[in-house]
Amino acid sequence: MNKQTVLSGIRPTGYLHLGNYFGAVRSFVQMQHNFNCFFFIADIHSLTTHPNPENLQAGVKQVLAEYIACGIDPEKATIFIQSDVPEVSELYTILNMNAYLGELERTTSFKDKARQQPDNLNAGLLTYPVLMAADILIHKANYVPVGKDQEQHLEMARKFAARFNNMYNREVFPMPQPYTFNGKDMLKIPGLDGSGKMGKSEGNAINLYDDPKDIRKKVMRAVTDSGPTEPNQEKPEAIRNLYTLMEAVSTPDTVAHFNDLYNKCEIRYGDMKKQLADDIIAFTEPIRNRIIEIMKDDEYLSKSAKLGAEKARASASKTLQEVKEVVGFKKLF
Ligand code: TRP
Repeated sequence: MNKQTVLSGIRPTGYLHLGNYFGAVRSFVQMQHNFNCFFFIADIHSLTTHPNPENLQAGVKQVLAEYIACGIDPEKATIFIQSDVPEVSELYTILNMNAYLGELERTTSFKDKARQQPDNLNAGLLTYPVLMAADILIHKANYVPVGKDQEQHLEMARKFAARFNNMYNREVFPMPQPYTFNGKDMLKIPGLDGSGKMGKSEGNAINLYDDPKDIRKKVMRAVTDSGPTEPNQEKPEAIRNLYTLMEAVSTPDTVAHFNDLYNKCEIRYGDMKKQLADDIIAFTEPIRNRIIEIMKDDEYLSKSAKLGAEKARASASKTLQEVKEVVGFKKLF
């Protein structure tokens, strides 16, 4: 059976949080059974912001351990570290020749960076979408599960793929499509600060790796209001967010119970938050324990990274060989 290929990458900055889990990683775990899956840690991309080497290394290890702890099986899916697959950088070099300055400068993420860090506007930031296209195209991915913020990059990957195919009049690359999970698989997890979604840069995230004490503190500090004044009143956003979180981690009975109290104007947010914190901790604690265990097992981590690198290189070198032949790199020896 020829399975379709799915690929996604994550930069090794910060810990995985509940938003990442319910919005993506949980679906990756499902997908590994039905697709040929590549999940990788984008350590080359993260050099655009010049991390110090110790932090970079620690971040890569953390994400690898977290992916595995969440249930991605290194034997089933291919989990690898970007810099372990030099073929990606080679394809990136070749794709750069057909990426135009104007289109790269017009990319939203580049324009944002130009505003945020005008003193570090390096060429890697400019060509970030080309490296991302190389990540995707080197494995001939059919589907790329990405969030809204990466949609433009994926569109550019399609543009570069089509341009390459056209230029050489060969169907080398399939067009990578965005993969959207169906509604019930994917939950958009809100933050605890009253509005918007959970995100590592928003500073409102509960990490899978957080210790129970911190989770309790974060939940108890969540934004609420002075409570409903009329029966069956519509919930304002901050309150709705608490219920959304509860729906993700608590039993339906618990959610119904607190909904009931809200509708009768008898809700006490302190009680609800206590329950929510308990249920989040019950959910994250086994994952956190697995992360801790895996992080201690250097041999297992290195075995997993090596297996991933081997599988990823086998796939990548096949594509690269084809690309080289198509562009006219013929071996003279
Ligand atoms: N740019 C993505 C992000 O910041 C990470 C990434 C790199 C990626 N290469 C990719 C995602 C390829 C999907 C496919 O989130």
